[in-house]
Amino acid sequence: MDWGMKNRLAQIIKPDGHCFFLPIDHGYFLGPTSRLEKPAETIKPIVSYADALFVTRGVLRSAIDPVRSKPVILRVSGGSSVIGEDLANEELTTSIEEILRLNVSAVGMSIFVGSKYEKQTLTNLSTLVNECEDYGIPVMAVTAVGKELAKRDARYLSLCCRIAAELGARVVKTYWCEDFDKVTGGCPVPIVIAGGPRCKTELEVFNFVHDGIQKGAIGINLGRNVWQHKYPVAMMRALHAVIHKKAAPKEASELFKELKNKSG
Ligand code: 5RP
Repeated sequence: MDWGMKNRLAQIIKPDGHCFFLPIDHGYFLGPTSRLEKPAETIKPIVSYADALFVTRGVLRSAIDPVRSKPVILRVSGGSSVIGEDLANEELTTSIEEILRLNVSAVGMSIFVGSKYEKQTLTNLSTLVNECEDYGIPVMAVTAVGKELAKRDARYLSLCCRIAAELGARVVKTYWCEDFDKVTGGCPVPIVIAGGPRCKTELEVFNFVHDGIQKGAIGINLGRNVWQHKYPVAMMRALHAVIHKKAAPKEASELFKELKNKSG
């Protein structure tokens, strides 16, 4: 692996081999998502605990300070909305020149395996990998399911992750599921866990994140379960402890409660 690629991966994956990406890219198909109406305000209290931000160029330019920024993973796919015909109908939205101009550490895009747009999104991934590898920029593939959340099982997700890795993704982001070791076991590149819609309890979040890490994920890319929470700082810090300090779910829960009580 060339120096530039290694260096960029090291910007987003910490020396302990783990990472906590904070996604705020949801507006690219959901519009002004609840609690993400003003991204700069949403991330202000929590961004210091993140290892990298996952963000579109629009929010990057309008809400992120270029001088004191965390490493950036740029969302470079889109083209569909939550009220459109099919969320899977995505294209690449950003040129390689724009990726270089924004000096990002990595790029991320969605693939929709098994959908009507499977081939289109997989060839989008190949095209992006071809362009980014020339410049040492890692590509993170997102195994997206659109509105079909029930698809998230080990058989389906291991298929998606393996295909993404075969096509050249340097990192794959996928959902946690039961038997997660089957997903990590079949994927030759690092996997990070996506959050998905809000869980009922904090412990539920700590449990699935901890299980995923135990079963081989290197970290998380988790948004709504942090910034839609009433206590986002406590959530962020408790998850940080699971990722970087080997905290068990119960310990994370105790830390969460302590921080929540302190915040009044
Ligand atoms: C949206 C994304 C998000 O990055 C991903 O879904 C993670 O965020 P959340 O934890 O809120 O699900 O790829 O397209």
